[in-house]
Amino acid sequence: MNVLVIGTGGREHAIALALRKSKKLKRLFCSPGNPGTKTIAENIALNISDHNNVIEFCKSNEINLVVVGPEQPLVDGLADSLRENSILVFGPSSNAARIESSKSFAKRIMNNAQVATAAYKEFYVNQFEETLDYLKGIKYPIVLKADGLAAGKGVIICGDFSEAKEAVKDFFVNKIFGSSGDKIIIEEFLTGEEASVFAITDGEDFVCLSAAQDHKRIGDNDTGKNTGGMGAYAPTPLITEKLQQKIEKEIIAPTLNELKRSGNKFIGCLYAGLIITESGPKVIEFNCRFGDPEAQVVLPLIEGDFLELLYSAANGKIEKNSIKYSGGCSVCIVAASGGYPDKYEKGLLINGLDLTNENIIIYHAGTIEKDGNILTNGGRVLGVTSVINSNDLLTAKMIAYQAIEKISFDGMYYRKDISDKALKFI
Ligand code: AMP
Ligand code: GLY
Repeated sequence: MNVLVIGTGGREHAIALALRKSKKLKRLFCSPGNPGTKTIAENIALNISDHNNVIEFCKSNEINLVVVGPEQPLVDGLADSLRENSILVFGPSSNAARIESSKSFAKRIMNNAQVATAAYKEFYVNQFEETLDYLKGIKYPIVLKADGLAAGKGVIICGDFSEAKEAVKDFFVNKIFGSSGDKIIIEEFLTGEEASVFAITDGEDFVCLSAAQDHKRIGDNDTGKNTGGMGAYAPTPLITEKLQQKIEKEIIAPTLNELKRSGNKFIGCLYAGLIITESGPKVIEFNCRFGDPEAQVVLPLIEGDFLELLYSAANGKIEKNSIKYSGGCSVCIVAASGGYPDKYEKGLLINGLDLTNENIIIYHAGTIEKDGNILTNGGRVLGVTSVINSNDLLTAKMIAYQAIEKISFDGMYYRKDISDKALKFI
């Protein structure tokens, strides 16, 4: 089979590497890809927002499957355009991708499906005073969310009314998220540990991969600003077998059923962001794609044929037995540019990438190749990831940290506590 992976991050490097292992794979393309995917696939510069450009490429290269990594092309209808041209694609339609691109759509699906989520209320940009009146009479903390996509930054946790007022001003008056913040939801604050669950689905049937924990804040012990994710580990002992079954039965299955029933059949990877509260797991967000950096730890733990899994799901009849969990564990530490998630420099030389260790994968994210050197080119630069055969997370953590210490660039920053959360549940 010939496969095209769309995207440029660490997640797409991980998807490409997992597909590479399949005996059924003939040619693997990544667009645009990155210097990491270049070592395992053919990088190809397509204009992803020009769907005809992608369709033409697929036709002339006999592409059997397209795997779309990021949310934006899905929200923009790339999967729809490909399907209209009889090109098989792993990724939801634009309508189904609203599970991520519209928080109010996601809430309606969850309410109809009776899936546990935080209680909420919706407000529009023309309801400034009404929103403030509502915020005066409620208990804090509270969570304000832009309805639309906001690059992972559209969530503000407010400790009191004055913080909430400032946040509403930012959404409705200063328009810091543009039209994505013209509608907001105000949501109950949930307490508990977070987990990411990934269901690979053909729209009806599904199989879940190992549950992971992300580390969203920039600082150790979950302090400082939110980021795209500073590291992850899997599987997480927080999600016991029993809890996993409950999540599949009470969250994933009813959500997929309701999406299908409402004419929004979801084919692809449904990512459930959960908080495990005292009264059970509750959804804080759904995404229409694999997590980043969670994919970097979840995908190397798969044994079997990942291509077969995605191909069969895209084709409407998922072969759930094409993969199984290896029994191992994985820890990914993100090496970020100094200053991230605020301003940072680009174009800095990365040293130590020649490191070889059979338990280490160095995923590329924000990197670029120039004159034979690899330079930094983004906020999250690399995902240094250990993968071991046993479920000994402490060893996996040690191997990952020993590796990242051998890699350097000016201002390189990484968290020192990735996977420590797991110790609470062991
Ligand atoms: P999101 O962009 O939806 O992943 O949200 C970013 C972060 O905000 C999450 O990882 C949580 O830590 C936090 N968060 C979102 N919704 C809630 C909620 N209802 N209660 C508590 N924390 C939340
Ligand atoms: N790791 C968070 C996300 O992919 O949205």
